[in-house]
Amino acid sequence: MYTWPQKPFILAHRGARSQAPENTLAAFRKAFELGADGFECDVFLSRDGIPVIIHDQTLDRTTSQKGFVWDYDAKDLQALGVPTLQEALEIIPSGGIINIELKGCKPFSPEYLGKQIKKLLNHYVIISSFDTELLKVWHGYPTGLLFEADQPIELPKDWRPDALNIDFSCLHIIPAGYKTILWTAKDFKTAGDWLALGVNGVIAEC
Ligand code: G3P
Ligand code: MG
Repeated sequence: MYTWPQKPFILAHRGARSQAPENTLAAFRKAFELGADGFECDVFLSRDGIPVIIHDQTLDRTTSQKGFVWDYDAKDLQALGVPTLQEALEIIPSGGIINIELKGCKPFSPEYLGKQIKKLLNHYVIISSFDTELLKVWHGYPTGLLFEADQPIELPKDWRPDALNIDFSCLHIIPAGYKTILWTAKDFKTAGDWLALGVNGVIAEC
């Protein structure tokens, strides 16, 4: 099950966030309706150790409350419109892809974050992160190490991701032997143009 998707793919960045609030079930459903192969989402742990989907480490920007995600239990976050990862997994149609970006594990460990997510998975999944420590516990799963647009591509010495998730501007400097996911295309048309260059996947706004 945990093989790399067979065909090139387009993933909606935080769901179809031009159509619904980012990282919500509505945005994820809309992504499939618009023709995406799947969606990218951002995961933290709640105070009670449940994987929840939100981009920022605080609630301030996207909910009516303030404070750190890890100071709230999952049920309270759900009441604020922050879905659990389990809820998001349940709406994925057969063959759909989810890219889970690991944002943080506080106040738990990378191993605990990994364990809490792995027990939910039954999908085509790509696990990505800017944080090598969070990714290293994902042996046997498709992994992508994220790089910012202006970040030098320096690879860890003690561990190897399957893919490098990079900005389009870095495409010409990617080392040989890695799968490639480009982020973030401004729309599906651009994503299609980028896929035609031979990369494995594109994360796009939609
Ligand atoms: O995975 C690509 C992209 O989502 C990484 O940056 O800040 O949008 O989570 P960010
Ligand atoms: Mg992300």
